[in-house]
Amino acid sequence: TDTAFTASRMGKIPMFDNRPIGLFDSGIGGLTVFKSLLHALPHESFVYLGDTARLPYGSKSPQTIERYVLQNIDFLIRKNVKAIVVACNSASTVLLGGTKSFAVPVYNVIEPGAATALKATSGKKIGVLGTKATISAKSYVRALHALDSSVQVFQQACPLLVPLVEEGWESDPITNLVVYRYVAPLIDAGVDTLIMGCTHYPALRTNLEKATAGRMTLVDSSEAIANLIAADIASGRFGASEMRSDLEIMTTDVSASFSEVAIRLMAPHVIPPLVEVDISPLAP
Ligand code: DGL
Repeated sequence: TDTAFTASRMGKIPMFDNRPIGLFDSGIGGLTVFKSLLHALPHESFVYLGDTARLPYGSKSPQTIERYVLQNIDFLIRKNVKAIVVACNSASTVLLGGTKSFAVPVYNVIEPGAATALKATSGKKIGVLGTKATISAKSYVRALHALDSSVQVFQQACPLLVPLVEEGWESDPITNLVVYRYVAPLIDAGVDTLIMGCTHYPALRTNLEKATAGRMTLVDSSEAIANLIAADIASGRFGASEMRSDLEIMTTDVSASFSEVAIRLMAPHVIPPLVEVDISPLAP
């Protein structure tokens, strides 16, 4: 990043760039990431894409998820964004290792989440909760071991948690039971740090704290990515925005229930109505 900063001072990268940052998720769960970004980057503008017509990603194959990810990135680049955040953990897996290159910087949420967990762990026993796609791709295991091969990682797929959050059942006793059922093996394994490796899980922070009796440090990948982008802007990786303009939330399908979940996840922020978009590539 020192090099990027020098480049910016020399005029190669403009100090200011008022284009928005794009982010996308399989649906509206990524609004938890949106909220962290809005908080950490008060001057930046954002366009959010929720691929609600094709969700969930968490139960799909890597090949299908990759195709969706590349289409979403292409769509956001056509929206003239200056950087892209892949808010969805299941989708972020496709980008691990930074082997693909794009016209703008593209961030995944897994690597910053893994780095934050490594800083937090006291006993080098890290737990990961995620969708089936994230867990079977061993996304966080790979990212953690790339940074520290001595850390022990315990994974748990939690396919029931996304629907519980989307139903608004965070305070229902049933949710506490399900959460406990998922974290019990991690408690037995002596995990000290737990990565909430899915867009929806920060909404279950209280349930997770209760289930783990406050004995695990909970890592929110959305905060980790927001901090990383703030640091990259500060060091000149891309230009900062001078003033925030209107936020845009686009989805590939609009329904009353998506809007209702969106309003709930974004509270206390007031959000504009969801706009339905067609992301298919332009005809050549
Ligand atoms: N956004 C997904 C994730 O973070 C969860 C929802 C889905 O499976 O599409 O993994």
